[in-house]
This record gives sequence, structure tokens and C-alpha cells, in this order.
Amino acid sequence: MRVAFAARDLSMYTSKPAGPPLALPDLQRLKRENAKIVCVTAYDASLAARADEAGIDLVLVGDSLGMVVQGHASTLPVTMDAMAYHVACVARGLSRAFLVADMPFMSYRDVPTAMSNATRLIAESGAAMVKLEGADWVCEVIDALSRREIPVCAHLGLTPQSIHRLGGYRVQGREQADAERLRADARKVQEAGAQLLVLECVPAPLAAAITRELAIPVIGIGAGADCDGQILVMHDLLGITPGKRPRFAKDFLAGRDSVLAALAEYARAVRSGEYPAAEHCY
Ligand code: KIV
Repeated sequence: MRVAFAARDLSMYTSKPAGPPLALPDLQRLKRENAKIVCVTAYDASLAARADEAGIDLVLVGDSLGMVVQGHASTLPVTMDAMAYHVACVARGLSRAFLVADMPFMSYRDVPTAMSNATRLIAESGAAMVKLEGADWVCEVIDALSRREIPVCAHLGLTPQSIHRLGGYRVQGREQADAERLRADARKVQEAGAQLLVLECVPAPLAAAITRELAIPVIGIGAGADCDGQILVMHDLLGITPGKRPRFAKDFLAGRDSVLAALAEYARAVRSGEYPAAEHCY
């Protein structure tokens, strides 16, 4: 018996057009207009498409994939091949959201290595921006990439690639000296050319001060309600991360009947200022 296979219908992976693709100037405009930027992580085409359909502005292929997709205890084992693969999958699912790709541990350890790895994520996989953790020596890399038209998102506060130095996934910047250092680092990465900043797990008043001080949009995760936008790991947003949840995580699928409804509710709650509430902040 012969089975006829129809041509593959890829429309199930792509979202309904929700408007023209967003670019960096759109994110900068949202900051100027005081409108919240809604962000989420994704690692595959189907969930990326649902995020797009729900009106999410920015999708990050985070190296959190090492933990929530691959089951590792940290983000450190994530390879460039894995990132390139997942970014390409997500790119196929998006039509509107701005796509950011994390650069994994050691993939930006010096300028030439960063240049070739970032080029791969942009030119081959389809990202519009790459994200790097840290300041200090990272500023040289941010400067080199951004001067060569590779937009860079910096990541400060709790930086999971520094887990062995930090000794745990803890709130950063609680002490006065640490808070001052974080403020200075935020200014440094902006001066080096970063066009976006993710601030992870810092006290809400400190994140608010940094957001006011910087011209670039600041996206918070566990960083209070006054950042220019919010990001959550998809698995936290859908309540499927095993074990103890971080304080800032909220299960938006609880009480809803679809992933799309959960993502749409997250977008609404961020835009209205309902999320994060005081109970999600440090
Ligand atoms: O890897 C990731 O998912 C991230 C977000 C938590 C911001 O860096």
C-alpha cells in the first residue's frame, strides 16, 4: 500500500501576522513612551509562534535552555552548536517579535571568538541581537561587536554563568557597595555600546534607579516593576519548572486552558503594571 504524503504545511509553526516585525528603534520608542516591553524565553518554533501570536515583543533564546530543556544543573554546559540550533528553530516560529540569542559560557571570552560566534547566531541562525553576561572585560567585546553592527544586550545582577564565583542563585546588589558597583557597571556597558540591558535578581529600588539612569531599555527579571520591560523563562511562566520556584516566577497557565491564553495574560499583566506585584520583588 502506498501512503501519499502531502507537502509539509509549516503554517502551524508560524504566528498569525500580529503587525510588522519589531526592531531596536521600536524597543527604544517603547522606553521613551513609558510603555512596557514584554519578553519571554523560547527554545522551539511552536512555543515561539504562540509567544508571537500573544503579542510578546521580544523572544530570548536563553542559555537557560541548558537547565529547562537539557536538564543540566547550570547553564555552563550549553554549547554554541546547541544555541545556533535552538535560535534557528525559534526564528522559524516568529514573525513579529524581536529575537535575541544568548552567547553561551566562554563563547565570548575574547574579541575574535565573540565575533565569529555572534556572527553565526546573527547570520546563520537569524537572531537580531546577542546577549552577554558581565561588565569589565566584557565591555571590550561589547564595543567590538556593536561597532561591527552586531547589536548587544548586556546582562547584569545575577549572572548564571558566574555561578561558581557567586556560590548560588542569589539576589545581587543588596549591600551599598555592591549596589554602587552594579550602577557603575550598567553605565559602563551602555557606554561600551550595549543597546539593551537585562537586570536579573536585584532589589527593586536599585533596578528602578538604573532604569532611570540609562538611555537604553532595561528588562528586569526579579528586578521589580519599574524596569522598562519584564522577561520570564517560558517554563516558569507555564508552571512546568520542577522544584522550588524563584520568588519572581508566576504560573500564568494556572486557571487558563491554553498556552496562548497564558502568554496573552502575561503580556496583559506586564503592560498594565499588574506583574510583577510586590510579592514577586526583592
Ligand atoms: O538564559 C536566560 O533565560 C536568561 C533570562 C533569565 C534573562 O538569561
